[in-house]
Amino acid sequence: MGIKETLLRHGFTFESETDTEVIPKLAKFVFDKANEEGDRTVTFSQVVLEVMRHLEGAYALIFKSQHYPNELIACKRGSPLLLGVKEFGEDIGNSSSFHDVKFQAKSEQPKEFFLSSDANALVEHTKKVLVVEDGEIVHVKDGAVSIFKFDNGKGKRSGGLARPASVQRALSILEMEVEQIHKGKYEHYMQKEIHEQPESLTTTMRGRLIRGGSCKAKTVLLGGLKDHLKTIRRSRRIIFIGCGTSYNAALAARPILEELSGIPVTMEIASDLLDRQGPIYREDTAVFVSQSGETADTLNALEYALENGALCVGITNTVGSAIARKTHCGVHINAGAEIGVASTKAYTSQIVVMAMLALAIGGDAVSSQARREAIIESLFELPRALKVKEVALMHSEGILAGEMKHGPLALVDENLPIFVIATHDACFSKQQSVIQQLHARKGRLIVMCSKGDAASVTVGGSCRVIEVPQVEDCLQPVINIVPLQLLAYHLTVLRGFNVDQPRNLAKSVTTE
Ligand code: G6P
Repeated sequence: MGIKETLLRHGFTFESETDTEVIPKLAKFVFDKANEEGDRTVTFSQVVLEVMRHLEGAYALIFKSQHYPNELIACKRGSPLLLGVKEFGEDIGNSSSFHDVKFQAKSEQPKEFFLSSDANALVEHTKKVLVVEDGEIVHVKDGAVSIFKFDNGKGKRSGGLARPASVQRALSILEMEVEQIHKGKYEHYMQKEIHEQPESLTTTMRGRLIRGGSCKAKTVLLGGLKDHLKTIRRSRRIIFIGCGTSYNAALAARPILEELSGIPVTMEIASDLLDRQGPIYREDTAVFVSQSGETADTLNALEYALENGALCVGITNTVGSAIARKTHCGVHINAGAEIGVASTKAYTSQIVVMAMLALAIGGDAVSSQARREAIIESLFELPRALKVKEVALMHSEGILAGEMKHGPLALVDENLPIFVIATHDACFSKQQSVIQQLHARKGRLIVMCSKGDAASVTVGGSCRVIEVPQVEDCLQPVINIVPLQLLAYHLTVLRGFNVDQPRNLAKSVTTE
């Protein structure tokens, strides 16, 4: 029988259909039952432990009760939860390293405590955080905090409730700066984050690209992967797994990953992989791409890949996130905090990290040395190329050129605005013929092309042209996305919608 049915049988009533409402009512049921059975000393943490014992699925919860004044309990499973700790009057400082500090929870110095699922919400109060683990209980009482561990009912006294075991944990220092979460001279976070891309990409690449000096060849160093590269090169298949924008970043990087690794590269939307229970083998490398590192679907897919024995690699923007901790190895994209729900700078940094990953897997194969060196050179140039970017146009749905004739062409007439991306690469002549077909059907074209190509894309009709700098083909998506980001930004602002928090969307989706 489900928890709700049991509670209904015991006379509880419900005002909503949400699972959330069941939890406090279950807590009340546990508390009343302990009291009825004569256990007048039942503690708040015992009540919460008993509630946790009955819950399934992912959650992060905070409990308050009139029966336990001056106490607060937080616990989690699957979903992220951070505890921030600040001494009264403490300056939060500017440290930029991520290291552990000793946590003297019960020292005399009075403290403030903060609980959040996201570091962005904590950083303006404190940089000292504790990443709460699954099954842990944070108990704040009379200004002090203790951490307990839920041990699946072990230590349960017959007829009574389990006594929680206390655990020692270290605090970590958050890497981010408060300025990163302020808008500065910009009106919106999305606008700020689009304009930050030259800097965020520089940070993503810092210390990872080697050119000239004592090292003759141009090369890539990804410290987080160095012990696993041999295994990755021997894999039978590399599977990229993500959701939303992260999945799309992997799609954009796929050609270079295939080209330089010589290994089959497949793409999976995390929820779809789980729904199908798609096969994953020990010989596979599974790469989990996630800005937050906390997306529930991606996290569940990671558990699934771990169970199936694959080597699991994380690509995240959040040091200490669940995906960063649970994967065997990985690369942080170091794009800085991204507040806008629509991912911009994290997307471009993800593509650049995946291009660097392709270079690292490609190793020192002589056959591709010239190509690798050209890509590294182009990576160095990328932040400079990104300075050219200010355009505001119209929205479009992405369709591959080869797919136009298989359906979408039927939609084209003089009322349909179409944004064509025809920058110079191996498919350029194919794009030119698509442009002619669209002209023939009187589509309203805006063509993005490489500098100097305007004449060859306007043949066959009139259209508006945006010229963008040309870089190595595998990095061209990083350039091409910027006018589209601005298009999305300006259209949204012009329509009067909330650009940083589109309705019905969340920055990180920590439920299935
Ligand atoms: C949410 C956000 C998307 C994001 C997706 C994956 O749906 O609204 O913008 O792309 O989650 O997030 P992740 O943190 O895993 O990259």
